[in-house]
Amino acid sequence: MSYENAARAADYIRSKYAGDVETAVVLGSGLGAFAETVENPVRIPYEDIPGFARSTVHGHAGQLVLGVIGGVGVAVQQGRFHYYEGCEMQQVMLPVRTFGVLGAKRIILTNAAGSLNTDMPPGSLMLITDHLNMMGVNPLRGPNDDRLGPRFPDMTEVYDREMQSAAEKAATDISRERHESGRDAELQDILHRGTYCALSGPTYETPAEIRLYRKLGADAVGMSTVPEAIAARHMGLRVLGISCITNFGAGMSGQNIDHEEVMETGARVAEFFGELLLRIITNS
Ligand code: HPA
Repeated sequence: MSYENAARAADYIRSKYAGDVETAVVLGSGLGAFAETVENPVRIPYEDIPGFARSTVHGHAGQLVLGVIGGVGVAVQQGRFHYYEGCEMQQVMLPVRTFGVLGAKRIILTNAAGSLNTDMPPGSLMLITDHLNMMGVNPLRGPNDDRLGPRFPDMTEVYDREMQSAAEKAATDISRERHESGRDAELQDILHRGTYCALSGPTYETPAEIRLYRKLGADAVGMSTVPEAIAARHMGLRVLGISCITNFGAGMSGQNIDHEEVMETGARVAEFFGELLLRIITNS
C-alpha cells in the first residue's frame, strides 16, 4: 500500500510538472520563505495531491513548490505533516516517499528546534549529525514494502557526510565573502553540529525532560524530521538535516517557550539560511 500511495501522488505531480526532481527540500516552521527562491515554480496545494494530509500548523503554508534552483530540479515542501497533528506515520512519510518515486536522490530536511547546548544560542543553525528517536514509535512499524526498501534498514549513517561537508564549506564561503565585503555576520560561527532528538509533541518539554535529553546526548529537541529521515534512508536517499535553533530548551533560559517566538527566530535567520540552502543545492 505504501508504495502505491507514493506512486499515485507522484503520478498526480507528474501530470502538473514535467521537470526532473533531483533534490527535495522540506521547510520547517518559520522557514517557508525559501520556497520563493524556486525559478519557474509550479505550486501544488497539498489538498490536491492524492493521499496528502492537510497542514494544520500556523507557519506552514501547505503546498509543494516544484521548479529549478541554480539549474537543479527541486521539489520544495512548504510545510510538513507532523505526528502531533494526529497524522499517521504513513502520512508523515508520504511526501518523502513520493519524492523518492519521482526520482529524487537527495533530501534536505529542515526544522525549528530548541537548543540543549549552552554554546548554541537561538539564531544558530545546527547540522544534524545523528538523531535520537524519542517519538515513542518507529515510523516503519508494520508490513515492509520491499519496493521502498529493506525490512531492517541500517541507520549507522542517516545524515550524509558529503552533504554535511558541502554545508560546512558553503557556510565558510558565505562567511568569508561577507567578511570581505565588510558585513559582520559570521555564518561560520552560526553553523553548529549536533544530535537532534525527536519527540512526539505537541507540548514543549518540561525542564526535567530537558535535563534527561541533555544527559542522553541530545543537542537539540524538536517534533519532526526523524520520521522523514528514516523514510528517506529506507529508500536510499541521501539526507541532510538542518535545525534552526529558535529557543533554549525549557528551564535553560528562565523564559517560557512560545510558538510565535519560534516563528520570529526562524524569520530572523531566513536570509542566512536561504543562502546556505541555495549553495548546498547547487554545489553538492
Ligand atoms: N522543543 C520542541 N520543539 C521545538 C522547540 C522546543 O524547545 N523549539 C522549536 N521546536
